[in-house]
Amino acid sequence: MNTKEGIIDIHCHILPNLDDGPSSLEEAEAMLKEALKAGIREIVATPHLVWQEKLLSKEQIQSAIEQLPKIIKVYGGAEVPLMEASDLLEEDKLVTTGKMVLLDTPPLGKLLGLEQVVFKMVLKRLTPVIAHPERNLPFSLDRRRLEHLKNMGALFQINAGSLLGLWGKEVEKAAEKLIEWGIADIIASDAHTAEAFTAFREAIARLRKRWGEKISENMTRTNILPLIRKEAQKVGPGA
Ligand SMILES: [Fe+2]
Repeated sequence: MNTKEGIIDIHCHILPNLDDGPSSLEEAEAMLKEALKAGIREIVATPHLVWQEKLLSKEQIQSAIEQLPKIIKVYGGAEVPLMEASDLLEEDKLVTTGKMVLLDTPPLGKLLGLEQVVFKMVLKRLTPVIAHPERNLPFSLDRRRLEHLKNMGALFQINAGSLLGLWGKEVEKAAEKLIEWGIADIIASDAHTAEAFTAFREAIARLRKRWGEKISENMTRTNILPLIRKEAQKVGPGA
């Protein structure tokens, strides 16, 4: 791990009172401090874009970020519900980070329409990042479908907690398979609390030990840079 430059966490519910993340600025500050201890130097704040039937705006997200103590660089983003992604894209209500769109996938169901959403996003030169595929077991075992989505231009983000078995043995195995198959591009905390960063740190240690430094660095930094940085976008995919 390049500790000097640090880990980038692209999936994190760190903004207070916008969703099921922290309910106060103090809790958010405690999360930032734990993230820093875990070696994270950049965070993409990804509140649920639609929460309790209300749609968040870019301005709400930006103003919540401005109120955070300046401990770690935080970028605006959102976790976009799959079912509503197509309409939100057409209505120009998506919240992206650079060219990245974090796509929430439910743990149950066939994820109908996912390919269509990915296609529409790629046409707009966006990169859909499919969040925690391992939590939907039938989906995560459908290697052909996953590879097809990857060929279309989607990336896959697994959760640190899944790799530690926090969602059960089957989800843990699915997360491992996604790494083995070369499907998983990114690992993220999906943190809602400060404790989640302890799990993130453990998961990265496990990743490094079992799959090596290179995979670990790719999944925590190298694969992320072309998505979120303007200067990186010039040399990244689709340039
Ligand atoms: Fe999330």
